Amino acid sequence: MKLFSDISHKFFENGGLTVPEVSGIIAAGVFIVQYLIPLALPIILLALLKEKDSIATAPAITWSVVGQFLQSSLWPVILSADSSATTGVPKRIIVVTRLKTLLAVLIAIAAVVTPMGLYERIIASDSPTPSAFHYVEDGSTFGLGTPPRTDLPFSRFCGAMHLVACPNSFSNVTTFSNATGDYYHVENYDTRVPQYVIHAFQSGLSAFNKSVSSVFDIQSRYYSWSRKTKSPDPLRPDNGSSYPTSGFRPIESIILKDKVTLVEGLIVDMVNGGIGFRNHSAPPVKGFGSEWSEDILFVVPESECVDTNITIDFTLPTYYSDTDSITNMVLTDHGGFAHITKEYPKVDVSDAQNNPNLRARAYKAAWTNNAYSMAFMNITSVKTENDSNSHAFEYLNSEVGKQFPLKGNGSSIGSSIIVDPYSIQSSGSYGAYLNGLDQGMDAYNYTNIFNTSENITNPSKPPLYPNPFRITSREFSSISTVCRGAGAADVANISHIAAQCGLLLGTPRRQDGTSSLLFYPGTNWSVPLYSCISTTKAVIKNVHFLFNGSDDLSGVTVTGLADKVYKDDSSKPLWGVEKTGMNLTDVNPIWGLVSSSNQGNISLSTIRKESLYLPGYVGWGDVSTFGEIRNLPGVHFHLDALSSTYKISSGPSDMDYTGKSSLALFQKWQTYTRDAESAKNVPNLVWTDLAANSVLGTRGMHTQSKDNSIQKRAESDKDNLYPVTTYHQRIRYHLPYAIPAIIVLVLTAVILLFTLLSCLRRSGINKMDRFLKKTSQARILTARLYGTSSPSEYDKVRGKEASPSSAKKAWRDTMGRKEITLSAQQEQVVIHDARYSERSEPLLQENPVYLSNM
Ligand SMILES: *[C@@H]1O[C@H](CO)[C@@H](O)[C@H](O)[C@H]1NC(C)=O
Ligand SMILES: *[C@@H]1O[C@H](CO)[C@@H](O)[C@H](O)[C@H]1NC(C)=O
Ligand SMILES: *[C@@H]1O[C@H](CO)[C@@H](O)[C@H](O)[C@H]1NC(C)=O
Ligand SMILES: *[C@@H]1O[C@H](CO)[C@@H](O)[C@H](O)[C@H]1NC(C)=O
Ligand SMILES: *[C@@H]1O[C@H](CO)[C@@H](O)[C@H](O)[C@H]1NC(C)=O
Ligand SMILES: *[C@@H]1O[C@H](CO)[C@@H](O)[C@H](O)[C@H]1NC(C)=O
Ligand SMILES: *[C@@H]1O[C@H](CO)[C@@H](O)[C@H](O)[C@H]1NC(C)=O
Ligand SMILES: *[C@@H]1O[C@H](CO)[C@@H](O)[C@H](O)[C@H]1NC(C)=O
Ligand SMILES: *[C@@H]1O[C@H](CO)[C@@H](O)[C@H](O)[C@H]1NC(C)=O
Ligand SMILES: *[C@@H]1O[C@H](CO)[C@@H](O)[C@H](O)[C@H]1NC(C)=O
Ligand SMILES: *[C@@H]1O[C@H](CO)[C@@H](O)[C@H](O)[C@H]1NC(C)=O
Repeated sequence: MKLFSDISHKFFENGGLTVPEVSGIIAAGVFIVQYLIPLALPIILLALLKEKDSIATAPAITWSVVGQFLQSSLWPVILSADSSATTGVPKRIIVVTRLKTLLAVLIAIAAVVTPMGLYERIIASDSPTPSAFHYVEDGSTFGLGTPPRTDLPFSRFCGAMHLVACPNSFSNVTTFSNATGDYYHVENYDTRVPQYVIHAFQSGLSAFNKSVSSVFDIQSRYYSWSRKTKSPDPLRPDNGSSYPTSGFRPIESIILKDKVTLVEGLIVDMVNGGIGFRNHSAPPVKGFGSEWSEDILFVVPESECVDTNITIDFTLPTYYSDTDSITNMVLTDHGGFAHITKEYPKVDVSDAQNNPNLRARAYKAAWTNNAYSMAFMNITSVKTENDSNSHAFEYLNSEVGKQFPLKGNGSSIGSSIIVDPYSIQSSGSYGAYLNGLDQGMDAYNYTNIFNTSENITNPSKPPLYPNPFRITSREFSSISTVCRGAGAADVANISHIAAQCGLLLGTPRRQDGTSSLLFYPGTNWSVPLYSCISTTKAVIKNVHFLFNGSDDLSGVTVTGLADKVYKDDSSKPLWGVEKTGMNLTDVNPIWGLVSSSNQGNISLSTIRKESLYLPGYVGWGDVSTFGEIRNLPGVHFHLDALSSTYKISSGPSDMDYTGKSSLALFQKWQTYTRDAESAKNVPNLVWTDLAANSVLGTRGMHTQSKDNSIQKRAESDKDNLYPVTTYHQRIRYHLPYAIPAIIVLVLTAVILLFTLLSCLRRSGINKMDRFLKKTSQARILTARLYGTSSPSEYDKVRGKEASPSSAKKAWRDTMGRKEITLSAQQEQVVIHDARYSERSEPLLQENPVYLSNM
């Protein structure tokens, strides 16, 4: 029953019946019909034989035809008739006749099984086809939200406090000092990036495929134009003509995508973080897809996080409270204070390109953060400048599990940090959770509350911590500078890589250890504090593309993404970074792939390596601020995104990464912030999402507008052909299904061989003819009934013509027409001379044919 239902399921519900299976079924059907009809036709024939009084009468030749028809059907086998007998028949004869049956069965099996081995495969062509690429449009929100662009020029501004001339620019700014101060005078501020600078910083591209972008192929996703003509601003860049500016208009967060995503102008790796610059193009549409790989310039974030081993704990109110969303906010020591190493950690950041020491930097920041926090709360002592007898760690008033309150009872005294159960936070400032804890307050003295310039000397509410060593935000912000490895006044060069450090407050976890998205009243929660550092690096990756389906970006998928492998050190890219001689805050150095360290009058530092940690300084600006006064996104987008990555808070922002507005994101953060090792994914992914929304790549494999001054490399038509592997549908065969067919073939070959041998020896047409005559029913009967003496008419005909065929015809016309009746009653008797005959004869006398004489 089950089998039946399976089969009927396959048949009627199209449950996976393949073409080969169907052809097998058809072959089986043909086979059945082939044997059914020879079984059925003899029955019809018998019915047509007129048996009068159980006697069938017909001309002698008819009996040959009928005999042959009946004997060659399956009926002799079914009824065990003479012709299927074995006893008494010589073995050789049996073998040959049995072989026929065996072959019939084998052929039937082969006919059914052979087609079942067939299957279709979509396979790649052996050799790649050179194909011309064309631009593929992005139909998603990113396509809609990206304004079109044609060869947007660049504009560059330098100087934090006041404008200074950028390196390698035509600007003319003079600075001078006199008794009243420092002054500067802008003669002419040229925001344009000279062509020779552009050329120098993409001179190294010639060593790579056309798909590799340079820093000048990075454009802002949103852009505008600006112009300053009026005083009082002393600055009239570009003689008052308009210059391009970048902008940040977030399109959509794709942080939940969890895969390598393609958006207009970018390959976004939402698994490990990173964006690849590519104006998307694809070869002509092929029926079953095409595949190719390209080398693509990526900028990827690299982060490390270290657990500070202290947590911020809180309890959710048991009763509804309209004032506090959390109660009992405390700092809990999980070893960060109690087991602190009493030795100042040292990190070498001098060779940041080769050895950035990110983990050690994050650890050092965590350590310093803990040490300052301990001093602030008088858990331990620090060495103070005015007391040379003082020592660090003279006492240590904490143990694992000890809690330090962060909020006063029933008053607004306490940490200014707002911990909320439903979000994560990141902050570039260490120790922020202590902010305000050393300030007391006069609870009801409104004159004091609103008079900030007044120092409360004797507040009615004392501060939570005395802060005996006067630890201030200055100490805490120095942690950041030490961790980044460079301060605002350091020289902008290749050694000072862009880095941002900060605290990451993970999602709260239940103190009883259970993992939950649900916040029940009265439950206790812990927020882990990680010290994280993030940097960015440029790297060339090899990307595998598959283009199948619709002719737009949705038809393109990334099937592989890995760092490019170089065969030796000398084939690794040579990265160059502008030597500026200026402060980090004043300029973001241009970087790029260069052909050699000698680029004429542009001075630069080079390094030959797979990747380059991007130089720069993360200032106060972020994605939504700095961009709007300039347009050279390649040198600052990574800094702006780094800065924004460490500003995740519940406050107003362009993009909400806290998880408060998305439970799915919150859940993702919950898994990532479970431990320090996976916590680094948070800054990596946030950076990637921010970067994807702020920039794009303009270089593509397709033919682009010819007079693009940036695309220097010759673009003949031949250069635009790129090898692509196309997919075709091919028919393949599972060899085991061919076994019956092979056996049949082998047997056929053997039989053919034997046939040939038999022909050479004893067989032959004449012998066949003779035996056909001798085993012919009609001839036996007539020979028996009329003897060897043939009737005269036959002789006459025979005498005239001698050829065998006419002899046969003659026999048929004469002897073949003799009426012969088969009697039903008398088994062994035939009756001739149809007139309900007078003469009957035993069927055959024993007159054996000696087969050995054949
Ligand atoms: C210094 O230079 C500024 C700008 O040129 C000028 O206004 C000022 O008078 C100068 N002061 C002295 C003391 O020369
Ligand atoms: C891409 O670069 C590799 C070597 O880096 C080279 O072998 C290959 O031919 C290049 N392909 C094209 C299409 O230029
Ligand atoms: C501004 O004027 C100066 C002097 O005439 C000229 O050298 C410079 O090229 C001009 N800048 C622009 C952007 O046109
Ligand atoms: C392309 O798409 C077709 C239809 O969906 C599919 O059968 C084929 O396997 C795909 N090609 C490749 C290379 O995956
Ligand atoms: C916190 O504890 C972990 C595991 O014991 C340790 O690796 C890490 O260095 C500690 N962090 C600090 C800041 O001491
Ligand atoms: C708050 O009050 C509770 C009990 O009234 C007390 O145990 C706790 O120490 C107080 N916290 C602070 C910060 O004063
Ligand atoms: C409020 O503050 C002022 C100035 O410090 C002080 O003179 C006054 O006594 C305070 N009032 C109360 C109620 O504490
Ligand atoms: C604020 O405090 C200062 C210093 O005590 C005092 O001089 C000033 O008058 C106060 N201002 C107000 C508005 O109370
Ligand atoms: C800080 O702690 C030490 C040791 O417990 C104690 O002697 C000292 O008085 C404390 N300082 C303050 C300002 O509370
Ligand atoms: C970069 O500047 C620092 C000083 O701020 C210097 O020590 C270092 O050697 C410079 N690096 C290079 C490659 O010139
Ligand atoms: C990509 O190239 C096409 C055609 O040249 C152009 O229309 C489109 O704006 C470009 N997109 C980007 C992101 O550069």
